[in-house]
Amino acid sequence: MSARDKTGEDDADRALAGHGSFFGRRKGHKLRAHHADLIAHLLPRLSLDISQSAPDDLTSLFDTGIRNVRLEIGFGGGEHLVAEALAHPDTGFIGCEPYVNGMAKILAQIEARGISNIRLFAGDAAELVAWAPTHALSRIDLIHPDPWPKRRHWKRRFVQDATVEAMARVLRDNGEFRFVCDIDDYSAWTLAHLTRSPDFKWTAERADDWRNPWPGYTMTRYGAKATREGRKAIYLTFRRFSATLAA
Ligand SMILES: C[S@@+](CC[C@H](N)C(=O)[O-])C[C@H]1O[C@@H](n2cnc3c(N)ncnc32)[C@H](O)[C@@H]1O
Repeated sequence: MSARDKTGEDDADRALAGHGSFFGRRKGHKLRAHHADLIAHLLPRLSLDISQSAPDDLTSLFDTGIRNVRLEIGFGGGEHLVAEALAHPDTGFIGCEPYVNGMAKILAQIEARGISNIRLFAGDAAELVAWAPTHALSRIDLIHPDPWPKRRHWKRRFVQDATVEAMARVLRDNGEFRFVCDIDDYSAWTLAHLTRSPDFKWTAERADDWRNPWPGYTMTRYGAKATREGRKAIYLTFRRFSATLAA
C-alpha cells in the first residue's frame, strides 16, 4: 500500500473527480488523514449525483420535514453555510464548492455538529444549476465570489447573462438571489447584469439595505479578510419576479 493510499488521498481524488469546468484551484495543501477520510467516505454519502436526472422535488434529497431548498455557491470554508443550516433546520441546503480543502472543512463541521440538512456538490455551480428542476430553490447565495479583476478574465466571473437566466429558472417565484462582494467593480457588474434581466428586481430601498449585512448574517473567511484589508463589502438582494405576475 502506498503512502498516499494510507492517508486515503487516492480515495479522496476519486470522490472528487469528474465534475465540470471552473477556473479556480481544486486543491490546496495536502489533506490531513481525517479530512481525506471524510472526503473519501462521508462526501459520497452527501454528494449529489448530477449524472442522474434530478428528482422533481429537491426536498426529497433530505430527511423528512424539509420545506424549502437553498443553494450556496462557492461556500469556501463553509462558515456561512453551516450557520444557516443550523439556524434553519426545516430548510435543506445544497453547498457547492470544487475546492477540496473547503469541502473537507465543511465535512468536518457536518460530522462534529451532526448536521443533517446539508447536501454537497464538489463541482461547478453552473452544472448544478443546469441539473436542478425549474422553480426548485427558494434562495441562492453567492458570497465573495472569485472577482477575476482583469478585463480579459471577466468572462470567468460566475455572474453572466447565461447564469443569471439559469438561476432565474431554478428559483421559485419571489425566490432570492443574494450576492456579497468587496470588489466594487464586480458589484457594479452584478448590478448591471441583474437589473437588465427581465427576471429579477433589486430589492434595496435605501443605502443601508446594501451597505449592511442581513440580520443574523455570518461573516465568511473572505469577508473577514476584506475587512482586515480595509475593503467594505456590499450586500445585494434580488427577488425573482413572479412568473404569473410578469405574464
Ligand atoms: C473567494 S472564495 C470565497 C469563499 C467563501 N464564499 C467566502 O466568502 O469565504 C470563492 C470560492 O468560490 C469557489 N468557486 C469558484 N467558481 C465556482 C463555481 N463555478 N462553482 C462553485 N464554486 C466556485 C472557489 O473554489 C472558492 O472557494
